[in-house]
Amino acid sequence: MKNRVLTVGSLIPGRLIVKPPAPLQTESKKVKTEGVIVEQNGKRMEIQPVKGKLLDAALNQGKPIQYKCRKGTCGQCTVKVLKGPGISAPNEQEKKKLKNEITNGYRLACQAEIL
Ligand code: FES
Repeated sequence: MKNRVLTVGSLIPGRLIVKPPAPLQTESKKVKTEGVIVEQNGKRMEIQPVKGKLLDAALNQGKPIQYKCRKGTCGQCTVKVLKGPGISAPNEQEKKKLKNEITNGYRLACQAEIL
């Protein structure tokens, strides 16, 4: 820390700028990442949240989610989201393809986005 030298001139009101001390950092903040947990064909997979399509995040992390069209029409990428903080609301393509299954937690991995 740099020591300040006070002179007569620095005691003139309005010239001395004293910054408050920085808070002590006694312990480092631990960033807890919440993974997205999905299940497809009885196989559970945890996907680290990376902004973008759920399918892309899974494939980039080596998770073998089955897929085909990537357009939301075939339904091959259907997964059940067991834990999914920060996933977008179902889009029209998912609503059209999955119908009532959305209420049971099913999503199209190629359409669902991690926010
Ligand atoms: S890959 Fe076809 S609906 Fe997602």
